[in-house]
Amino acid sequence: MGHPPHREVNKSIRAFFDERAANWDDMVCPQHAERLKTMVAALGLSDGGRVLDVGAGNGVLVPFLAAKARFVVELDISRRMLCEGRARSVGEKVAFLQADVLDLPIAPAAFDVVICNSCFPHFSDQRRAIAEMARVLDTGGRLVVCHTQSRECINTHHRRAGGTVGGHELPPDDEMRALVTGAGLSVAEFSNGPGGYCLIGRNQR
Ligand SMILES: C[S@@+](CC[C@H](N)C(=O)[O-])C[C@H]1O[C@@H](n2cnc3c(N)ncnc32)[C@H](O)[C@@H]1O
Repeated sequence: MGHPPHREVNKSIRAFFDERAANWDDMVCPQHAERLKTMVAALGLSDGGRVLDVGAGNGVLVPFLAAKARFVVELDISRRMLCEGRARSVGEKVAFLQADVLDLPIAPAAFDVVICNSCFPHFSDQRRAIAEMARVLDTGGRLVVCHTQSRECINTHHRRAGGTVGGHELPPDDEMRALVTGAGLSVAEFSNGPGGYCLIGRNQR
């Protein structure tokens, strides 16, 4: 029996980000980190939470998440992205895990917050990704899918880039809501506009 089809697709996605990891910061705008700081502050994370940063990249969210969390797991499919993150984030609170969001090697209900910034369009099976992230959320926990730009800007950006990421899109709002509720979460917040994109799903089971 062969591997599931997403494993093959994800090899090319991993290669794409591995190749860009060393220069990733040169590719994002200088205001990016400041916008992320504001975005994470608006989430009102409670003290002592267990946070999973999915598609964590080079760890840009670590300073903002670790300030409040009991611990943060930085998870990414790209080993080189994680190496960049590890080089700049130290501290006992932060762990690094190379894994695919579609097959999370994590026990159910292990986290209070799962945050997925600027990476959801890249997931080759978005239904499965949401189901996996919902599975590892504890009761009352929140799944945050966010971007510092609107859905339209993100989708246009990927379309223009073409190649590996050419078809990587955030789905329309009704589709996204259906994915979240289909995974057993309720939609607690949803915004999309020039200030960014943020969907928060809550596990009320
Ligand atoms: C655009 S970068 C964003 C990184 C970071 N969250 C940020 O805000 O800068 C997208 C990240 O998603 C990761 N990624 C893509 N597909 C993934 C998957 N199936 N599982 C885990 N990570 C994935 C990539 O390796 C990459 O580091």
